[in-house]
Amino acid sequence: MNRRIVILGFMGCGKTTVAKEVARQLDCSVVDLDSFISQRHGRSPAEIIQQDGEDSFRDVETLALRDVLQDKNARVIALGGGTWMVPANRTLIALHDCLSVWLDAPFDLCWKRINAGQTVRPLAPDRETALARYESRRADYATAEKPIAVDEFDPAEVLAAQILIET
Ligand code: S3P
Repeated sequence: MNRRIVILGFMGCGKTTVAKEVARQLDCSVVDLDSFISQRHGRSPAEIIQQDGEDSFRDVETLALRDVLQDKNARVIALGGGTWMVPANRTLIALHDCLSVWLDAPFDLCWKRINAGQTVRPLAPDRETALARYESRRADYATAEKPIAVDEFDPAEVLAAQILIET
């Protein structure tokens, strides 16, 4: 696999877990963009959004993505849920010839995980807001090169193998 892989999709679709598993199967390094931002800024994406607003966070996110993509060792990259929505980010990803993989999980699964998880998600404060955001993003997510349908019972190992097949 020469091309690098970026994993995208809605909050709770499993990007971080699947990216780690893809990297494990390829025996290569993985970068989680949200974690990279937290380390770099000493604040999580949620804190940046809450304190500075979403627009400010998007600027921080694009700069972080640019720097992660500069690092050729980052072979697998898990994006944040909104990263793919910013055209400049899609351009960066295309310029670096990354394979874009959309984890297409049903809303109810994402919502269940959003609720169960420890991560604070200011852009999904309630079901109605999260659903509206999910629906408004699908058309853009669907422009990714490789859509992978995800259901609740798919283990990360199987999803990762599906991503790697024929790539
Ligand atoms: C966001 C998703 C979050 C994080 C930030 C914004 C979004 O990442 O980047 O809170 O716009 O969907 P996860 O998808 O990893 O939760």
